[in-house]
Amino acid sequence: MNAPPLSLPSLHGERVTLRAPCADDRDALFALYSAPEVMRFWSTPAWSELAAADAWFGRQDSGLLAGSAMTWAIAQCDDDALIGTVSLHAIFPGQARAEIGYALHPSHWGRGLAREAVRLALRYGFDELRLRRIEADTDPDNIGSCRLLEALGFRREGLLRERWQVGDLTSDSALYGLLKDDLR
Ligand SMILES: CC(C)(COP(=O)(O)OP(=O)(O)OC[C@H]1O[C@@H](n2cnc3c(N)ncnc32)[C@H](O)[C@@H]1OP(=O)(O)O)[C@@H](O)C(=O)NCCC(=O)NCCS
Repeated sequence: MNAPPLSLPSLHGERVTLRAPCADDRDALFALYSAPEVMRFWSTPAWSELAAADAWFGRQDSGLLAGSAMTWAIAQCDDDALIGTVSLHAIFPGQARAEIGYALHPSHWGRGLAREAVRLALRYGFDELRLRRIEADTDPDNIGSCRLLEALGFRREGLLRERWQVGDLTSDSALYGLLKDDLR
């Protein structure tokens, strides 16, 4: 596979653009990661203070520098405002595989924007990074996430019981996999 670049390329869709997150996105990132609906099935608790954004930017920079993660802002084409994030992370060059992650602010759910954004990142992973396989780990009760993955061609390949503990909640993981020719 090709090594991830040190700066994020912008990827353009019909309604959304994937671009590098920037300091102006701080408030929108906080609105996203503090929303209980968004964080209901997330692997960390909801943000309670704006300063969490600074640590988040630090993690994204480290991931990019290490070649292990690329996290884009999902921005609306018309005003460039951040409405979500999508990432290729756990990038494992020796095995040409990575994981996909995504979150969209609830005020934009149900319009196919997540599908468009996630598809752009998957296409980039297969066509530019030359990944062989992309995986997703989602709570089987996260119906929106499971439907999104299945609509894109992911296959559910397994169930890992009680894999996550976030606060008082323990949850299972449905593991999904996608090969290049599966992508719809
Ligand atoms: C997962 C998420 C990005 C989906 O966003 P979305 O805007 O609903 O996605 P889309 O509009 O592209 O819809 C994708 C498909 O899922 C379906 N869907 C979405 N939410 C659904 C729900 N709650 N119940 C049933 N179907 C749902 C849509 O109808 C669509 O199906 P279709 O292809 O048959 O039309 C959004 O719910 C989210 O950000 N959740 C919080 C973060 C999260 O849990 N991320 C995953 C962590 S692993």
